[in-house]
Amino acid sequence: MARIQIKDCVAKIGENVELAGWVDVRRDHGKLIFIDLRDASGVVQMVITPSDKELHKIADTVRPEWVIAVGGTVQERPKGMQNPDIPTGTVEVAVTGLKVLSEAKTPPFALDTDGREISEELRMEYRYLDLRRSRMARNIRTRHQVIQFMRSELTGRGFVEIETPMLTKSTPEGARDYVVPARQHAGSFYALPQSPQQYKQLLMVAGFEKYFQIARCFRDEDTRGDRQPEFTQLDIEMSFITQDDILELIETLYISLVKTLFPQKKIQQIPFPRITYKEAMEKYQSDKPDIRKNKNDPDELAFVFVVDFPMFEWKETEKRWDAVHHPFTKVRRASDSPEDIKDAIKRIKEKPAEQTADQYDFVLNGYEIGGGSIREHRPEVLQAVFEAMGHASENVREKFGHILRAFEYGVSPHGGIAPGIDRLLMILASEPNIREVIAFPKTGDGRDLMMDSPAAIEPEQLRELGLEIRKKE
Ligand code: AMO
Repeated sequence: MARIQIKDCVAKIGENVELAGWVDVRRDHGKLIFIDLRDASGVVQMVITPSDKELHKIADTVRPEWVIAVGGTVQERPKGMQNPDIPTGTVEVAVTGLKVLSEAKTPPFALDTDGREISEELRMEYRYLDLRRSRMARNIRTRHQVIQFMRSELTGRGFVEIETPMLTKSTPEGARDYVVPARQHAGSFYALPQSPQQYKQLLMVAGFEKYFQIARCFRDEDTRGDRQPEFTQLDIEMSFITQDDILELIETLYISLVKTLFPQKKIQQIPFPRITYKEAMEKYQSDKPDIRKNKNDPDELAFVFVVDFPMFEWKETEKRWDAVHHPFTKVRRASDSPEDIKDAIKRIKEKPAEQTADQYDFVLNGYEIGGGSIREHRPEVLQAVFEAMGHASENVREKFGHILRAFEYGVSPHGGIAPGIDRLLMILASEPNIREVIAFPKTGDGRDLMMDSPAAIEPEQLRELGLEIRKKE
């Protein structure tokens, strides 16, 4: 006989079944032993009577979190003994055989609570146990559903999911890079991508037109409740589109996602309001305003697009202009006629502070859940942007030569957006931080307590990499 899933027991009354899973709870009622068995699909009550002495003896040794396999008959529970709180509450399994597959130590914390009372460090150290609690298991499954929904919607609209490299080159997204030493090129380093920004633009040059990726991004910055050193974006790029096309795509996708997967949630306003950066700053003193009418209701979703960002901001520490979003953003202009291009270059040089970018942020309940822009696809304007940011001409070639060169071979006008998946899930699951919706998150200071990483490496590995560790002074 083959093992079935616990959730399928309800349809098997009167039949013999085989089940396997973890012992959730064991209760002794006089001679009767009750074991709640848990697998990935649910929990079911099993009952062991003293009639089979051998079986009763084994069942008596079993403890919570042991892994067991059982055989038995599914029977309807007597009236009054049914449990309306669980989907299998109308049935129980009269056990005829029980095998212990693995024993378990007593877990270092309770698994039948929501876990909020337990120190987070301990939860992270034993994350594989923490993920057994129903709240966490539900969050991770919800994450899967959201990602599947995005994948299938975009695939249905003709988008192609394309993986881009993790070992790449330092890029100007504004955070510090994580770097990886290159053994075959001692003294040289790969950088982990802060986002697939340049690759997705190069895929537009390659002619794919509609790209997406559930993309892992890496940024070495101080971790906060809504920030992790590695996080996930729904990365999107399209050719021959306008800002409206992109915002409408995102709006349609998010409305249908909420309606399908989170019907209990209420979207405050459809179509999503669009406000300019200037209005947001004046009215809410924030570029990610929380425009909810009722901030106490966890089911209220106030999406808003913030548009018309300034192109540049002054970096006082570095005494130079920097791109608010990233340098690949298009500077607003009436058209791409030779006169308008010339005028744009002049404006970038002379009045950087006054330039508006074709850039937008996607905001939900006061969190920035996405950002994107129409890209600058004219190499001569891009060059002017890099120079306005204080890059010398040779430096631009060295750092961004690949993009500038690619743009000389027939580039489609393009643009995109990258909604953050972790922040969206945090809000949809009504969780206080993104660590609760990530299977294996890092601590505030970037450690993985379960794997004990980062960690020292062997002297032999260092030698191979041509690296030497300087002793702390
Ligand atoms: P940006 O840097 O605005 O844009 O990032 C897009 C979205 O990613 C999420 N995000 C994060 N989530 C968790 N932890 C972090 N450390 C973190 N950093 C960012 C946010 C944010 O809105 N390449 C561009 C997108 C584009 O232009 O298409 C980019 O990465 O939700």
